[in-house]
Amino acid sequence: MSIGFVAVAAGKNILLIIGGGIAAYKCLELIRRLRDRGHRVRAVMTKSAQQFVTPLSVGALTNERVLTDLFNLDEEREIGHIRLARDPDVIVVAPATANLLARMAGGHADDLATAVLLATDKPVLVAPAMNPAMWRNKATQRNVTQLKADGIRFAGPAVGEMAERGEAGPGRLVEVPELIAAIESIFEGEAETSGALAGRHVLITSGPTHEPIDPIRYLANRSSGKQGFELAAAARNLGARVTLITGPVALPEPQGITIVRIKTAAEMLEAVQAALPADIAVFAAAVADWRVDAPQTEKIKKAEGKRAPTLTLTENPDILRTIAQSGPLRPRLVIGFAAETEDVLAHAKKKLKSKRADWIIANDVSPASGVMGGESNTVHVITAGGVENWPEMSKAKVAQRIMERAAVELHARRTAAE
Ligand code: CTP
Repeated sequence: MSIGFVAVAAGKNILLIIGGGIAAYKCLELIRRLRDRGHRVRAVMTKSAQQFVTPLSVGALTNERVLTDLFNLDEEREIGHIRLARDPDVIVVAPATANLLARMAGGHADDLATAVLLATDKPVLVAPAMNPAMWRNKATQRNVTQLKADGIRFAGPAVGEMAERGEAGPGRLVEVPELIAAIESIFEGEAETSGALAGRHVLITSGPTHEPIDPIRYLANRSSGKQGFELAAAARNLGARVTLITGPVALPEPQGITIVRIKTAAEMLEAVQAALPADIAVFAAAVADWRVDAPQTEKIKKAEGKRAPTLTLTENPDILRTIAQSGPLRPRLVIGFAAETEDVLAHAKKKLKSKRADWIIANDVSPASGVMGGESNTVHVITAGGVENWPEMSKAKVAQRIMERAAVELHARRTAAE
């Protein structure tokens, strides 16, 4: 079969209005991550925002001219403020200062940012950032209540330490991953009906497993779960119903996904079996190969003269292989991962056969690669048809490409079966 990518509605047009706050620098990271996820970002900066970050750095990251001035004829000719208000799929205001919120609530239109906000009929998400006293002030709270009543969505503020030393409370800009989750959740309903995986059930395993030694200690590995969470978000963005079965990880929960949290490999297998049937199953978890034979129910104590305990290990069930051999319940497309530290392709090809997977996504996880816990990944896609070497990409992009390709493959398999 020839391999192509389905045209998907995953990439959105986002207009980012950057307000003048110390947190404005976080917009640089936000833009980079949004673009990694396939979105297009155009930015408008208020006058005071330009005191904190330069239009030059914002423009370099968006790859678009940054707009700053309502009365600039060049800018108005290039893209008038009314088109700027109507073209995007969503407008994000971050950081939204107390002053900007007040001007929005009052319906002002005395600069480009507020004129666009007044002219738009698109969803608007604001992420406030200010000193806690300013946030708690009655005037700000009155404006927030008004804006919420007007249908404006809010992300945050988060609670924590402020830039001013010794100040803490509500007022921090939400972290970038949470802001992205809030932005993408606006498109969820849409994706469910229009995506390439609409009506399909995608099952994903992710993260490490923890195998208990006693009630306090366990065996684990360095998996962060990032790639699995990105796969779940990518499948959701294509309209799939997603079940994400994850070991213990510290990641923000993607919205619009059923998350099942487990600890051990045995629990993961049980949860996977309970979630079947599925159209696609992706096994991204770093399942512990062994568990402790007889975990102690009480904490193991050390005592002088007592020998260090010996752990006897038993092999865990191979979840991928079990599901790939589950007869009529076998998902139509079974995708495994091969995390290797040497001879990546040779090991991965063996796994394709021994695990009975349709594809193996192989990656080098040697410490020098920085993949474990890192943001990017360099993968090889091994199928019965051969090997594809993909360039280094963010984990979000890898996830998006895998799910797009899976949608094409699933469609081909269904058509062949009919
Ligand atoms: N896997 C699984 N259940 C296990 C072990 C692995 O489902 N008990 C899945 C992983 O999620 C991954 C694939 O099998 O998709 C390969 O896992 P990996 O640990 O790389 O392979 P192993 O079979 O454990 O082989 P080895 O540790 O010898 O490399």
